[in-house]
Amino acid sequence: MGARKTIIATVLELSVAAGLWTAAFAAAPEEIAAPLTPLAQDGIHDPKNPAIRSLQHPEQSMADFPKDRRGEVDWVRTLREGFISPRRSVSGDDYGGKEVMQEMDLDIIMKNTQQMPHVRFPHLAHTEWLACSNCHPAIFLPQENANEISMEKILKGQFCGRCHDKVSFSLFNCERCHSIPHAGSGPKWW
Ligand code: HEC
Ligand code: HEC
Ligand code: HEC
Repeated sequence: MGARKTIIATVLELSVAAGLWTAAFAAAPEEIAAPLTPLAQDGIHDPKNPAIRSLQHPEQSMADFPKDRRGEVDWVRTLREGFISPRRSVSGDDYGGKEVMQEMDLDIIMKNTQQMPHVRFPHLAHTEWLACSNCHPAIFLPQENANEISMEKILKGQFCGRCHDKVSFSLFNCERCHSIPHAGSGPKWW
């Protein structure tokens, strides 16, 4: 009996000490994170899929990824700075897909932008993620100035708006597309 009481007392002392330590750490306000919405309730993940229990929460897995000025993940930098190394096909084999992903470094400068800086369309940043057939010929004819693109059409979900503001960065990041100032473009107003 005596030995048992000592063990209980020791356990109690340890728990009190642990409680004090926890309280000391919890006192730093930056340590307290907002509660994360459980994945099964976020409206995106399938709650019936058994993998739901082992998936890491995106807010935790992406916490260190570079962000743009709106606080969204900057996927171009995330890839280039080596935070992720995505497969080129579902099988993981570089040549396993229907079409071989082929990188192409060709910028197209679009100048029909009025007072906004010109638009630099970089093939490289796109072909690191997409195949040529994702855009050509259904979204864009592969010829410079062959497509009548306008901001209004983009905002309505055509051309660049097929992906931007959906699977790719938001259209409110004007400067990521309108990145080439010209004589008629004034100081940044947006
Ligand atoms: C995903 C890329 C992208 C983003 C983001 C973007 N634009 Fe554009 N914008 C374009 C393209 C492409 C054109 C057409 C250029 C051409 O045809 O030469 C354009 C054209 C324009 C024009 C010229 C007039 C017109 O209606 O076509 C204006 C003004 C404009 N954008 C303003 C903005 C503003 C303001 C923002 C931010 C709120 C913005 N854009 C964000 C790609 C973008
Ligand atoms: C994200 C969409 C997208 C992807 C992916 C893409 N392109 Fe393009 N491509 C464009 C746009 C936008 C233009 C410019 C069209 C314009 O100016 O009207 C263009 C223009 C071109 C041009 C015309 C260049 C010129 O000087 O006239 C060629 C050739 C071309 N692309 C080939 C390719 C090839 C090859 C691939 C794959 C390696 C590819 N593109 C992937 C969007 C894309
Ligand atoms: C088929 C989908 C798709 C279309 C169409 C598309 N984009 Fe993109 N864009 C992407 C993806 C995916 C990325 C890379 C990942 C990201 O940044 O979200 C990207 C990245 C970019 C970048 C790189 C930004 C940086 O910080 O380096 C620019 C600029 C850009 N897009 C402009 C355009 C313009 C302008 C158009 C229309 C002429 C366009 N995109 C059409 C999917 C698309």
